[in-house]
Amino acid sequence: MNVLVTGGAGYIGTHTCVELMEAGHEISVLDNFSNSNPEALKRVSEITGKEFPIHQVDLLDAKAVEGVFSQGSYDAVIHFAGLKAVGESVQKPLEYYMNNVTGTLVLCQAMQKHGVTRLVFSSSATVYGTAEKMPLTEDLPIAAINPYGRTKVMIEQILTDLAASSQQFSIALLRYFNPVGAHKSGRIGEDPSGIPNNLTPYISKVAVGVLPELPVFGNDYDTPDGTCIRDYIHVMDLANGHVKALEKISSTTGVNAYNLGTGVGYSVMDVIHAFEQASGVKIRYRVTDRRPGDAPVSYADATKAGNELGWKAKRTLLEMCEDLWRWQSNNANGYQSQR
Ligand code: NAD
Ligand code: UD1
Repeated sequence: MNVLVTGGAGYIGTHTCVELMEAGHEISVLDNFSNSNPEALKRVSEITGKEFPIHQVDLLDAKAVEGVFSQGSYDAVIHFAGLKAVGESVQKPLEYYMNNVTGTLVLCQAMQKHGVTRLVFSSSATVYGTAEKMPLTEDLPIAAINPYGRTKVMIEQILTDLAASSQQFSIALLRYFNPVGAHKSGRIGEDPSGIPNNLTPYISKVAVGVLPELPVFGNDYDTPDGTCIRDYIHVMDLANGHVKALEKISSTTGVNAYNLGTGVGYSVMDVIHAFEQASGVKIRYRVTDRRPGDAPVSYADATKAGNELGWKAKRTLLEMCEDLWRWQSNNANGYQSQR
């Protein structure tokens, strides 16, 4: 298939581009590089040995988006482009609603005009909000608790309405749990700007000495070691989920949500210990107050993706940490590092 990948220069996008080309698909990338570096796409070409069109375009620029669709003939779109920092979304809600929701509307209008009706959308486990029942299943009500999460809920609803309006559309809403790790080459990986918000990039920056110590956000939760539990999934397993979703939407119509997680929860301390084992580096940490809004426990029931997409996460927590360490130790400053 010829696939347009929005946000393809980002963390999950680059890994998915590799997986798509290795599965025999052709790709074009649309990205405004607001949270990514063109170097990442050079490295995707280096890993795969394949060149592909890159459109430096902002999804809010409807004319430019239209231009991309006029130039190419796409069988499907995978839509990663969006802003993703929860804390920032609380400070700048309008920017988040504009970029994520309006950007998606612009994309869908261009798709509709050009008869492109297959879409895979990056949703998030954050749509489950404060659900108490674990593991999380796709049929639970969705209600996020911050502006970022609400953009995902709104977009899921918009896409559901779009699919209801025309039997042509076939849409997969992929609800990611906690993507971590990197491609095994160590050439691409997560490259957050500034101080990371998320656990594993923070740990790896402590390990390379860029940050002094990890804050552990609370050890008084009702969990075996008192720290929060999450469903960490290797980014290459997640990338493979997109290839499987693409296959699925090619033979179906309508809209479907799928959890992409391992179904297994690990605590913050489990992750620290796995990373220490993978890297041989002792991680300095300090227990601090709880982070507001953190759920004590979150993990997926990934049965639906297994049954309907034929997909299952395969890589272990240790592999996630080994691959993260290879990326971080070779690229202490991400894509700014020397090649
Ligand atoms: P990322 O920030 O690394 O990648 C997003 C890409 O989209 C970036 O390259 C950015 O430049 C681009 N982009 C943003 N707004 C754009 C716009 N208006 N026009 C064109 N390009 C634009 O993020 P990621 O971690 O790869 O996440 C990809 C998607 O998955 C996002 O939608 C995110 O909300 C979702 N998601 C991520 C996680 C996670 O933990 N990383 C978890 C759940 C869901
Ligand atoms: C966060 C977002 C979620 C988003 C997800 C993407 C919040 C409240 N939630 O989820 O919406 O979809 O990222 O990956 O921001 N931790 C520490 N110290 C740190 C960082 C994290 O102890 O410096 C702990 C957290 O308390 C949490 C776990 O590590 O228990 C994972 O945190 P994080 O990587 O931020 O992911 P989520 O909180 O699951």
